Amino acid sequence: MAKEKVVIITGASSGIGEETAKLLSGKGAKLVLAARREERLKELKQQIEASGGEAIYQVTDVTSSEEMESLAKYAYDTFGKIDVIVNNAGLMPLSLLHKKKYDEWDKMIDVNIKGVLYGIGAVLPYMREKKEGHVINISSVAGHEISPGSSVYSATKFAVRAITEGLRMEESVGNNIRATIISPGAVSTELTETITDDDVKSSIDAVYSGAIKADSIARTIVFAIEEPAEVAINEILVRPTNQEW
Ligand SMILES: NC(=O)c1ccc[n+]([C@@H]2O[C@H](COP(=O)([O-])OP(=O)(O)OC[C@H]3O[C@@H](n4cnc5c(N)ncnc54)[C@H](OP(=O)(O)O)[C@@H]3O)[C@@H](O)[C@H]2O)c1
Repeated sequence: MAKEKVVIITGASSGIGEETAKLLSGKGAKLVLAARREERLKELKQQIEASGGEAIYQVTDVTSSEEMESLAKYAYDTFGKIDVIVNNAGLMPLSLLHKKKYDEWDKMIDVNIKGVLYGIGAVLPYMREKKEGHVINISSVAGHEISPGSSVYSATKFAVRAITEGLRMEESVGNNIRATIISPGAVSTELTETITDDDVKSSIDAVYSGAIKADSIARTIVFAIEEPAEVAINEILVRPTNQEW
């Protein structure tokens, strides 16, 4: 059950992270919200509290290992434990390789890969000590399939799957830490706003015309959390029914 579980969510200021926080708070979880936009986090915390839930937030850039360590410490100092981290923060500035958008490549690698690693590193000591915990990492259908324009984004999301499987093998037996990969297809959020390559944007807009709502992914995350401790949901793909690839 999610009730009383302490759940850290990165990228909680919009989209999938925000919906997951709302759904989990309705089920009695204690939320630790993280992202860079403070106003959004403050607003979400107020909404959660107004509906009788419990949430704290800390402005956090997931590309900083120090800030991720500080986030985990804040969660532990406030609630006395960390049950779950949802490493959800991510960006998707898709582009063709010959456009050489070096800055966007660097950002995707920093947020989508290093951010997930720092999240894992920050919570593992607490979870290993308790011999219980759950790490949920958000990959993508693009972590299974590659299309023109998705090379770097796909590489980061393949990496998320590799890291999560490695974590599962290292920490499940003995430390009872569950590892879950959630791979969404097209979901209607702010994610596509990071695309600056017009040659890719129009084809992506077509795919996203059939996008599903973020609450579908929130329900999937809650499902994985609510399974009994001895049941590890290791990987789920969730696509819009009308999405072919
Ligand atoms: N939407 C989709 O179709 C789809 C499909 C497959 C996978 N995903 C994955 O789902 C996850 C959530 O994305 P979304 O669709 O919900 O998009 P979104 O609405 O754009 O949310 C992205 C979140 O990441 C946060 N973020 C970005 N850079 C950050 C950083 N350096 N430090 C901390 N937080 C950062 C943003 O918050 P701040 O800007 O406030 O920091 C925001 O809350 C991503 O990993 C994405 O790759 C989405």
